[in-house]
Amino acid sequence: MPIKKICCIGAGYVGGPTMAVISDHCQDIKVTLVDTNKEKIQAWNSKDLSRLPIYEPGLQEVVLRNRGKNLFFSSDIENSIKEADMIFISVNTPTKIKGLGAGYASDLKWVESSARQVAKYAIGHTIIVEKSTVPVRTAELIQEILNGSQKRTKNIEVKTFSVLSSPEFLAEGTAIKDLENPDRVLIGGSDQKAIKLLRNIYTRWIPEDKILLTNVWSSELSKLIANAFLAQRISSINSISALCEATKADIQEVVKAIGSDKRIGKKFLSPSPGFGGSCFKKDILNLVYLCRFYGLETVANYWEQILFINDWQKKRISSLIIEKFFGTVSDKKIVILGFAFKSSTNDTRESPAIEISKDLIENGAKLFINDPKVTALQIEKEIGLKEFEIEPFSLGSWQFVSEIKSSIKEADAIVLLTEWDEYRQINWKEIVSKMRKPAWIFDTRSILEIDEVKYNGMNIWQVGCVA
Ligand code: NAD
Ligand code: UGA
Repeated sequence: MPIKKICCIGAGYVGGPTMAVISDHCQDIKVTLVDTNKEKIQAWNSKDLSRLPIYEPGLQEVVLRNRGKNLFFSSDIENSIKEADMIFISVNTPTKIKGLGAGYASDLKWVESSARQVAKYAIGHTIIVEKSTVPVRTAELIQEILNGSQKRTKNIEVKTFSVLSSPEFLAEGTAIKDLENPDRVLIGGSDQKAIKLLRNIYTRWIPEDKILLTNVWSSELSKLIANAFLAQRISSINSISALCEATKADIQEVVKAIGSDKRIGKKFLSPSPGFGGSCFKKDILNLVYLCRFYGLETVANYWEQILFINDWQKKRISSLIIEKFFGTVSDKKIVILGFAFKSSTNDTRESPAIEISKDLIENGAKLFINDPKVTALQIEKEIGLKEFEIEPFSLGSWQFVSEIKSSIKEADAIVLLTEWDEYRQINWKEIVSKMRKPAWIFDTRSILEIDEVKYNGMNIWQVGCVA
C-alpha cells in the first residue's frame, strides 16, 4: 500500500519547508504538520503569508500552492497521528542544560515525547522517520518506546511500527533550493518495505542515484559528521584570518589559492565573525559527548577545538573593535548591520551578533541595530536587555533601526555582521560622509570594496586583511 497520509511532528525550520516540498511533489498524499506551539500553527495558517513563522526564499509560494489542498497545519496532534501511515519526527534536539551530560549531550526530551505521542495514538502499521538530528542510536530509544505499545489481538498485530532515519541536510536561507535539489538523501534502516515506501516519496523529484541507503546508525552518525566537517572548515579559515592580519597576507587571496585545489574545494571557506545557527555548535558538542562516552578522549578534544576557535573569533572581533577606539567604546554610537546568523533567514540562534553586541554594550557602547528580517523583540530576547534600557554598570544600550541612512548620522563605527544583499547595495560613499570622524567600518563578512570607502578619514578593518 503506498503512503496516503503523512504527519510531521514539529513545524519548525526543518518540518515546515520539508513538508511543504513533499506536499508539492506528492499531490496524492495528505501532509499534516502538528506542533505543541499553537501560536506557531496559527502563524503557519495565517492568510498574510509574510506572517509565516519562518522566512525562507520560495517558501511562501510553495505554501500558497498547497495549503488547504494537501498541506495542513494543525494542533490536533492525536487525530493527525491516528490517521497517518508515515510520521516524521522533526522536533528540536538542543544541548542539555541540566543533568547528566549537561552542556554537551543532546536533550532528547522532545524526541521522546514525540515517540510517546506516536505510541499512544498510532493505529495499524506506522513508519516513523527520524528527521531531527540525533545522537547515534536514538532510533533504538524510539523503537523501545514504541515496542511497549505494540498490540496483538487474536494473534494479529493491530499496532506495529518501523523506524527509519532520514536526517535533513538543508541550510537555512536556501532550504527550498536544497530540498528541491539535494546533494544526497540518506535513508537508514533495515525494514526493506518501509525503506521502499520512503524512497518512493523522495524519487518523485530526486534522482535515484542521490538516495543513499545505509544502516540506521551510519545514517544518524553521518548527519553529525557532515555538520562537524562543515564547521571545521569555517574554524580553520577563521583561524587563518587572524594569521593573515598579523602577516599582511590577504585571506581572500589565500582562499582562492587553496580553494583552487580540487581536493580542498572552494566552498565553505568564507571568513566570518564565526559560525552561528542552531546546529553546528550543538551537533559538535553532541559529537564530543559521544566520543567521550565511548572513551575516545583524544578524538573528542580534536573536534572540541572547532568550538574554541569559533568563540575565540567572536571575542577577537569585539576586542579589536574596542582596541581600535583606544580601549573604550563608552558612549560611542555603533551601528550594527545584520543580526541574523547568516543572510536570507530571520533565525538568530547562536548568531555571532549576539556575543559581539553584548560585549560592546558591556563596554558602554550605544548600539543601533539593523536587520531586514529580524525583529526588535527577537533581538531583545537574544541580548537579554530591553530596547532603550540602559545597562546599569556600563551605561551601554541598544535600539532597533529600520532605516540605515538616518541612523548612520554621527556614528563612530559600523560593524557589518550579516552578509545581506541589501548591505552590498548601500551607497557607502554617501554613508561614510555622515559619520563622525575618525570613524571605523568593521567588515566581518568581506563584502566591502575597500578602495570605494577608504577616503576622507575612514578607517576600515576587514576580516583577514590589512586594509
Ligand atoms: P525548531 O525549534 O524550529 O522546530 C521544532 C518544533 O518542534 C518546535 O516548533 C516545537 O514546538 C515542536 N515540538 C517539540 N516537541 C514537540 C512535540 N512533542 N509535539 C509536537 N511538536 C513538538 O527546530 P528546527 O530548527 O526545525 O530543528 C529540528 C531538528 O532538525 C533538530 O534536530 C535540528 O538539529 C535538525 N536540523 C535543523 C536544521 C535547520 O536548518 N534548522 C537543518 C537540518 C537539521
Ligand atoms: C548548516 C549546514 O550547512 C546544513 O547542511 C545542515 O543541514 C544545517 O546546518 C543543520 O543541520 O542545521 P545552516 O546552519 O542553516 O546549515 O547554515 P550554513 O550555511 O551552514 O551556515 C552556518 C554558519 O556558518 C553561518 O553563521 C554562516 O555565516 C557561517 N559560514 C558559512 C561561514 O562563516 N563561512 C562559510 O564559508 C560558510
